[in-house]
Amino acid sequence: MADISMVINGREVRGSVEDRTLLVHFLREHQGLTGTHVGCDTSQCGACVVHVDGKAVKSCTMLAAQASGSEVTTIEGLAKDGHLHPVQAAFKEHHGLQCGFCTPGMIMAAVDMIRRYPGGLDEKTVRAELEGNICRCTGYHNIVKAVLAASEAMSKPAVAA
Ligand code: FES
Ligand code: FES
Repeated sequence: MADISMVINGREVRGSVEDRTLLVHFLREHQGLTGTHVGCDTSQCGACVVHVDGKAVKSCTMLAAQASGSEVTTIEGLAKDGHLHPVQAAFKEHHGLQCGFCTPGMIMAAVDMIRRYPGGLDEKTVRAELEGNICRCTGYHNIVKAVLAASEAMSKPAVAA
């Protein structure tokens, strides 16, 4: 067993887990954060993407013990003060989801992608960057539209008060 502690969505969490416990299972089964999904057992689908210290990670590829001492953000931690994160708002606005199973992972990957391309994104880059996220409904067109819209919204300078 391993004693672990981490900050999840701004809340300090401690636990005792079997050494083999994956981060995704710690989040879902120990913390009840079921917005992070498991869509495969081959590390291919991306439904499990969360942020570990600000970077997108497939949480099925990481042990919970490896994330000990880190800051973890899941889809449940993106909205602030009752307001959707701009990427969540863009997915809603542009119909970037169908069954929704892949959506949390898509959104977490998109937030990280937009952070890494502060100068903006184009369609080719978004499609290449989303290679590790599979939507089985194959609704990629609106997902790409949503990511581009969010990238544009987030790169606009804030209006001075
Ligand atoms: Fe992690 Fe599919 S569950 S990549
Ligand atoms: Fe259904 Fe992506 S919206 S798998």
